[in-house]
This record gives sequence, structure tokens and C-alpha cells, in this order.
Amino acid sequence: MRIDIITALPKLLESPFSDSILQRAIDRKLVEVHLHNLRDYGIGKHKQIDDYQFGGGAGMVMMLEPIHRCIEKLQKERTYDEIIYMTPDGSRFDQKTANALSLKGNIMILCGHYKGIDQRARDLWITREISIGDYVLSGGELAAAVVCDAVIRLLPGVLNDETSALTDSFQDNLLAPPVYTRPSEYEGITVPSVLTSGNFAAIEAWREDQAIKRTKERRPDLLE
Ligand code: ADE
Repeated sequence: MRIDIITALPKLLESPFSDSILQRAIDRKLVEVHLHNLRDYGIGKHKQIDDYQFGGGAGMVMMLEPIHRCIEKLQKERTYDEIIYMTPDGSRFDQKTANALSLKGNIMILCGHYKGIDQRARDLWITREISIGDYVLSGGELAAAVVCDAVIRLLPGVLNDETSALTDSFQDNLLAPPVYTRPSEYEGITVPSVLTSGNFAAIEAWREDQAIKRTKERRPDLLE
């Protein structure tokens, strides 16, 4: 998989891809992530990328031309399965969308800033608009990092234990059951005895019960 991220603040996105699981995925050549500084495609001496909005009102709008130049350059080099725009008014990101995106080959992600991007860019080039939740971030970068993390960890070979993504919360519309590690007793507090019983059928049944119980308590909407 290849992910191209267009951003006015590439530095914000450097650290998420230079540590831990995402770094390992890149090192193992399971994914390529390329950051493109929108400023490099800006207009004139000042490399302008935003301007006042027509009709008045506070907040700048990201201009069409720098976005067009950058997308056009990338599209000349390869075709993209999705061109995603990160925006609080997009569809809410969830595990199902992460699963679907993990099956794609080339993805482009455009991060918005200020009041957003000129609507014509959205109409012309964007194939999917994603929000990570009902709150407004200063820009799309952190949201793009969230999406990339959720997608990349699903790629085969990224997680050491191939099954571990399958037992994540949300994969079956269920939250994950509680987990415990050593010691089995700490200051008199013990782990559920079934987990140390060695009876794997009983452990599986307990985990499923706990997952259902937790989902009913915390996220009944997932069971509807
Ligand atoms: N940009 C600003 N806020 C955002 C959000 N909640 N989701 C995606 N992109 C955003």
C-alpha cells in the first residue's frame, strides 16, 4: 500500500510514522507513506495557499490551484483508489472504513486547515470525506494520522501476531473483553480464575460473555 499525504504542516506528521508499529510497517516495506508540503505548490513569491472567503466572514480558505497542482502531479505518477479529504463534516471514521481502506493500493489524503478547502476541490477530486469525530481540530493532520494508524496496523504482516487485529474492539461490532497479565495476584486482587484454568474453551466462552456484557453496558448502539 502507498499513502500520499498532502499537508501544509508536514512536520506534524513526521513523528507518527517514525516510531513503533507504523515505523515497523514502513521498514518492512508493507506500506510507503509520502508527505507532500502543499506550500511547495503555493502561488507566487510567498507560496500562497489560502485566501479570504468570498462573501466575507472570518477564516481563510485553502485555494484551489495549489491543491490542483499537487494532486495533478501525483496523479501523473500513478492512479489512486481514493482521494480522501479530512474534515469534521465528513463521514464518521470507524473500523469498517479502516478495514475497507486497508484493501486499497494507493491512497491520497488531503489535510484541511483554517475554514477548509475551496468547495470546488471537494467536488472535483475528492472521493471520500472522513471525520474522526464530532469535534474540530486545528487541521486534518492529526486526523489523517489516526486514519493511517488504524489502516496500516491491519495490513498483513504489520502486527506480529496475525490474529491480534481480528480480536480488536469493533471487529465484530463488539468491544474487546478485559485483559490481565502477571502477577495473577497483586495486593490481594486476583485475575478471574478461568483465565488461569488452562481450559481454552472456557476462556473463549468467558471472553465472549465479557465482550457482550461490556458492549451492552458501554456501547449498546453497537448491538442494534
Ligand atoms: N479536521 C478538523 N477537525 C477534523 C475532524 N474532527 N476529523 C477530520 N478532520 C478534521
